[in-house]
Amino acid sequence: MEVIIRPTEAEASRLVAAIIAHELQARPQLVLGLATGGTMEQVYSELARLHREAGLDFSLCRSFNLDEYIGLPATDPRSYRHYMNQQLFERVNIDPRNAHLPNGMAADLTAECAHYEHQIHDCGGIDLQLLGIGRSGHIGFNEPLSALRSRTRAKALTPTTIEQNAIYFDNDPAKVPKRAITMGVGTILDAHRCIVLVTGKAKADIVAKAVEGPITAMVTASVLQLHPRCTVVVDEAAAGKLQGTEYYRWIFENEPEWAEFRR
Ligand code: PGA
Repeated sequence: MEVIIRPTEAEASRLVAAIIAHELQARPQLVLGLATGGTMEQVYSELARLHREAGLDFSLCRSFNLDEYIGLPATDPRSYRHYMNQQLFERVNIDPRNAHLPNGMAADLTAECAHYEHQIHDCGGIDLQLLGIGRSGHIGFNEPLSALRSRTRAKALTPTTIEQNAIYFDNDPAKVPKRAITMGVGTILDAHRCIVLVTGKAKADIVAKAVEGPITAMVTASVLQLHPRCTVVVDEAAAGKLQGTEYYRWIFENEPEWAEFRR
């Protein structure tokens, strides 16, 4: 795992978008794992800008989102399908048939989860997985105590997550769906590369636990420490509780891998 600290949320988001753009240019048929949430909005805006102004091409790209609420149709503005359409899919030239999310309205959720895993497998696996970290320490909706080898499945949301996401449901936790389909921790670990974006002071504690704490199912993001190629991008605010910042800053300023991203 490596940690990159950028001064602001805007710069952290821009770096993540630049990494995605770089990978997509190198491999136009990239299989992208995508995430939702407030943190990702600036990343998607920047990708849309790169498409518009620099011709970044999504036409051959395939995507799989981490998760979707159970019980919300795609037409519901609070569904993740709707979020993705608005934030990214309708702003770039991705083929809608290649942009996958789990179907939270499926009559048979177990079959839907198995089908999702098969679709990922049939595309050759995820090349680049974008991730946020929730206040509960989750990646996707893998809440505390999720099995570390779990695959795509239905999961009950914790009160912490329900409270975090209530802002999208009239600030009323009672209106937040109680369950979601999520890729499993094992599904995420199978991705070839993981890019995690965490911003803001409210995430400083949880990002420190995930990055520098012990690996534990209580903080599923900590399992990314096992991933062979995981980059965590944070802004200064989210980096506030990290111990190793001097080393992390040195990496970004000196390692050849980051040379083209320093400009
Ligand atoms: P956020 O969500 O970007 O809205 O903070 C992140 C998450 O819960 O994974």
